[in-house]
Amino acid sequence: MPAYPMPPPPSDDKRWKIVNGTMRRQGYARHALIETLHTVQSSFGYLDDTAIRFVAKSLRVPLSQAYGVATFYHHFSLKPPSKHTCTICIGTACYIKRADKLVSAAEKMLKIKAGKSTPDGNVSLMTARCVGACGRAPVMLADEDLIGLVEPAAMLEHLERWAVHD
Ligand code: FES
Repeated sequence: MPAYPMPPPPSDDKRWKIVNGTMRRQGYARHALIETLHTVQSSFGYLDDTAIRFVAKSLRVPLSQAYGVATFYHHFSLKPPSKHTCTICIGTACYIKRADKLVSAAEKMLKIKAGKSTPDGNVSLMTARCVGACGRAPVMLADEDLIGLVEPAAMLEHLERWAVHD
């Protein structure tokens, strides 16, 4: 933890733990700004005002600088990419439990690459590096719900529901 008071995470969404993990690994240094925004982007699929403010405050970076970075790089999107986001953890523990197979099965079913959204705007497929639930690897987040010990068939069923019926 840094020596100054950290702002509380914007919500109970488990993905904020991933974002916090990135900042912690970098010792809450200001130069962690880009990497942290990358983590927000890959976990949530986009950066919104709440996220940018939270990261800026946590790293004690001026808000204008955080917005400057978020709007400068084309990699960052300020709009939600789709209705649902499936984030598959590809951190070491999950990788050992064949998270790569989950990613390729999801890519095949949705006909998109990880990091992209389906053209109808229903599902975005994202990856993350450790969501802090290694004991339950492999892990995925279905929107904000963390699901452990993911079986490929169950994941595909979930994705199909989103892709077809929503
Ligand atoms: S590596 Fe996947 S939860 Fe830690």
